[in-house]
Amino acid sequence: MACENEANISKGKNGRDKVVLAYSGGLDTSVAIKWIQDKYDLDVIAVAINVGQPPSSDDIIARAIRNGAVKAEFVDAKDEFVEEYIWPALKANAMYQNIYPLSTAIARPLIAKKLVDVAKKEGAMYIAHGCTGKGNDQVRFDVGIVSMDPDLKIIAPIREWVMTRDEEIDYANKNGIEIIVKKESPYSRDENLWGASCEAGVLEDAWAEPPKDVWVHTVDPIEAPNQPEYIEIEFEKGIPVGLDGKRMGGIELIESLYKIAGRNGVGRIDHIEDRLVGIKSREVYECPAAEVLITAHRALEAMTVTKDVIEFKRGIEQKFCELVYNGLWFGGLREPINAFIDKTQAYVSGTIRLKLHKGNCTVVGRKSSYSLYDTGLSTYGKDDHFDHKSAVGFIYCWGLPDRTAARAHNKK
Ligand code: ARG
Repeated sequence: MACENEANISKGKNGRDKVVLAYSGGLDTSVAIKWIQDKYDLDVIAVAINVGQPPSSDDIIARAIRNGAVKAEFVDAKDEFVEEYIWPALKANAMYQNIYPLSTAIARPLIAKKLVDVAKKEGAMYIAHGCTGKGNDQVRFDVGIVSMDPDLKIIAPIREWVMTRDEEIDYANKNGIEIIVKKESPYSRDENLWGASCEAGVLEDAWAEPPKDVWVHTVDPIEAPNQPEYIEIEFEKGIPVGLDGKRMGGIELIESLYKIAGRNGVGRIDHIEDRLVGIKSREVYECPAAEVLITAHRALEAMTVTKDVIEFKRGIEQKFCELVYNGLWFGGLREPINAFIDKTQAYVSGTIRLKLHKGNCTVVGRKSSYSLYDTGLSTYGKDDHFDHKSAVGFIYCWGLPDRTAARAHNKK
């Protein structure tokens, strides 16, 4: 295969070059193990990266080896996902187009990083992933990988081969590839700790209400309990550290919220989204934990952060969302943006009380030892210590430009 740095390529066991394949154990990537060997004559190292997707029912690592990978590795990246990716997104109140908590998008740079790490360790010159040519994820992987190592070459089998699902199954059978053929899902799904994405099938009809089988993690709000459920989330410097008075690590906290919010029907999203590649697509998400945490975090910022910082931060948050969505995590702007956001979180500590009820998540209480909400200033009662008289002078100056203009324009 044509390659610029042929001389430097490290050879695999059989003297072949190596490719690190992002492997899920599903039909596409199982077929890819064999297809890459045939088409490119490379040794395949299959890497399964866990960012909180539903556990697989079989040992996908052993199966990768049986299907011809020279090596297969499982990387548990959940902790790093929470600390280095989800928390920065939460501190940014990240909602792409004001509605999508970037659940799929935020995991992509981490997966890219893990693939590059393995490629370095194994001396591989190639990385392969299972993205199609129409989505955002291919951009996130490709750009992420070359931003970390510009010499790595990328192979995207599904972007190249023209097989339908049936042809893939045929190919697997002909080549003795062991696959677990599940009942064909009409949807394309992606899941991790921060949420689940669902697209395609009947969802392509923008007028069709998502059918019941789309929703896996949230109950229909109509069938949710009639009694509201109250929860309290404690934050330190913008990061959630406790739930209902119990201190918790990030993974446990997110997983608990997933269940609690999910059983109250909270976290369903259905919208038309603008992809980076210019396509509008109908996207359905379930992000119960993300919705609750972002709602709570925003409410705590409202109490502990000054108005000018909150307003300026809104623009920065928007930029953060664009960078993540558009695959520029490893570009020059993302880290400085996160540094700014981190600085704003110094006093975002306290507790938020939320009411979850039939699909709604409402903030009903907040407290913080750094609260800027001063009842001595806001009260209409007897403890009022606001200096009412100074309002007159303030209003005189505040209105002065408009008063001056009115005089000049009306010639009064
Ligand atoms: N539209 C979302 C994004 O670009 C989700 C993509 C999910 N992928 C999938 N296979 N369903 O981040």
